[in-house]
Amino acid sequence: MTVVLPPREARALAVWNCSQLVTLAGPPRARCGAEMRELGAIRDGALLVRGGRIERVGTRAEIEQAAGGDVEVVDAGGRIVMPGFVDAHTHPVFAGTRAGEFEERMQGTSYAEIAARGGGIRSTVRHTRAASEDDLLAAARRYRGWFLRGGTTTVEAKSGYGLSLDAECKMLHVMARLSAEGSVRYVPTFLGAHEVPDEYRGRMGAYIELLVEEMIPRIAEERLAESCDAFIEPSVFPVEKARVVLQAAQRAGLRLRLHADQFSPDYGSLLAAELGADTADHLESTGPRGLEALRAAGVMPVLLPASVYALGSAHYPAARAMIDMGLPVVLATDFNPGSSPTASMPMVLSLAATQLKMTAAEGIAAATINAAYSLRRGSEIGSLEAGKQADFVVHDCGDFRELPYFFGRDPAIAVYVGGICIYKLLQYS
Ligand code: NIG
Ligand code: FE
Repeated sequence: MTVVLPPREARALAVWNCSQLVTLAGPPRARCGAEMRELGAIRDGALLVRGGRIERVGTRAEIEQAAGGDVEVVDAGGRIVMPGFVDAHTHPVFAGTRAGEFEERMQGTSYAEIAARGGGIRSTVRHTRAASEDDLLAAARRYRGWFLRGGTTTVEAKSGYGLSLDAECKMLHVMARLSAEGSVRYVPTFLGAHEVPDEYRGRMGAYIELLVEEMIPRIAEERLAESCDAFIEPSVFPVEKARVVLQAAQRAGLRLRLHADQFSPDYGSLLAAELGADTADHLESTGPRGLEALRAAGVMPVLLPASVYALGSAHYPAARAMIDMGLPVVLATDFNPGSSPTASMPMVLSLAATQLKMTAAEGIAAATINAAYSLRRGSEIGSLEAGKQADFVVHDCGDFRELPYFFGRDPAIAVYVGGICIYKLLQYS
């Protein structure tokens, strides 16, 4: 039995009896190369939390001595405690599912064929437009429970199933309401350039004008999003069109995180580098030229192996080459109803191990501290260090290497955001 608890006031906490406190302590920047294998794990480590922030990190003996009588004890029961996952690429607000399309795809119809006949993203757009804000909120709360069970405490959340000013704002308002509920943290991204909606088919120029003249200025002015994204593909938004949208977003003060090279080699990655995007995401088709452009421009790669898996493909991104050339790799779920219907970061760690050949430590660094830096929140979240938000998770593991090893389960048994327990598994042994 599980329960998602309502928010309460942050109390002083002492967290101890941890087999490993996986701190991710280190330099105040994203980790690259061999640094990704250094998790700063403390055997029998412990935490002291006050006012929702980490006051002290140390051994159990040190924390026992420093803790006053006023603290509430969180006994981890000999399990690992680590930072909440930061899922840096998701599409968590939508109506309906695409289970029917999934079945068709498994029988041989491609994602591109389904999109070309008006299914895919455009099918979810029709459902999302028809749904009320409250219905979308109810669906998104359900998915939030899935993020929590995997141990995720921050989620980057893209719009992109509205594709009109009103429907995009409706999605972004849902994200603002989710954030205000004080559970998982949501970081909103505007993805108006996800597809050309039905009523603009054959008139991409007119849709781009709407994005540039109305949608981006309004969304930036109302501070409904921090970043802007575009699905850059010759058959969706070609580079020349995406560039116009993304430059308008930059002029309006939005940062960039881009769907790049999912299907087309060295395509969106080059635009991400040219525009100085924070991240280039997917990169399943990126070759040496695109990778070098990302490295030279300081663009972080966000890898989404669950979308490769759920599309039934074997075309995974070249994570090892990226790590070896010093790129600070990030991992995310890409949770969405089409290409990646999972909210589970532990599942992503499993795929990162078996398909991307990343070690458990590399996967965890990519899914916590690097993801936090990709969202420009590295000084607040992503590691367990004094002064940071107390966003931590007790997982049902004795060693962090069990996270990618035991797969297909929800390992989190307690999740804290800002020092408040927001999720607890009630029955476990
Ligand atoms: O990241 N590639 C584009 N966007 C999503 C899929 C969205 C959908 O199919 O609904 C992705 O894979
Ligand atoms: Fe995506």
